[in-house]
Amino acid sequence: MGTEDLRARLEYYRDLGVKDLYRRSTRVPVVDAVQVPEPLLKPVEAISVPRAVPISTIEIPKVIDIQLPGMAPENDTLDRICSDIGDCTRCKLHIGRNKIVFGSGDPAARLVFVGEGPGADEDEQGLPFVGRAGQLLTQMIEGTSAKEGISIKRADVYICNVVKCRPPENRNPEPDEMETCGQFLFRQLSVLQPKAICALGSTAAKALLGGKDGVTKLRGKWHKWRDIPLIVTYHPSYLLRAYNQDAKREAWEDLKKVLHFVYD
Ligand code: URA
Repeated sequence: MGTEDLRARLEYYRDLGVKDLYRRSTRVPVVDAVQVPEPLLKPVEAISVPRAVPISTIEIPKVIDIQLPGMAPENDTLDRICSDIGDCTRCKLHIGRNKIVFGSGDPAARLVFVGEGPGADEDEQGLPFVGRAGQLLTQMIEGTSAKEGISIKRADVYICNVVKCRPPENRNPEPDEMETCGQFLFRQLSVLQPKAICALGSTAAKALLGGKDGVTKLRGKWHKWRDIPLIVTYHPSYLLRAYNQDAKREAWEDLKKVLHFVYD
């Protein structure tokens, strides 16, 4: 890829909200990532694409060994994104993965929930939020809407995650994994164009809003991802911990707020 092509790509990724692109070790040749031995896949440095700086002034390394995913096509679709993800090996999460968890629900959904990344059950089934946290999420969506006189089921919304492969030991996704996979999340949201987004937990909030603030600080008010209204609430896994009674009440309030906004 030539320098000018790379500059154009950087501009495109910055517009998508991507802040860093990770370079692999300079020992890695530009070849199909499948053939690259695992230890060499660790990101060693990043090219930052800061908002305020013109792309033309960003220094592009002479030896370009970045493997960039393709740009979003003009008439992007969920199927296209899924096939672009393919049998992904773009980050180290692929190593322990069983199934890629793309997302599920109504492609015409007016409300999208974004979680962190698959757990063991999701990795096994290839579907998001099907374990204990998922059962709670279903209960929250269906229970709250029923109480509020809004007739929606889980199947009426769309649910996906920041990263599509299970992080080992359910650790938090690392920045390079979030950046790499976040590009697909952004494409999903751009295609879905929901009326609102609900970010579940601080990883989703960070991926969509940037910044370092946690849920306590971000919840209770409206934010925006591009022009789409976004609310942040606690991750259902956090709510499963018995001592989080206040957080549970607050999560129900957040959910009521977003459900009424979308469906009233
Ligand atoms: N936690 C998540 O963040 N996502 C899932 O899909 C399941 C559990």
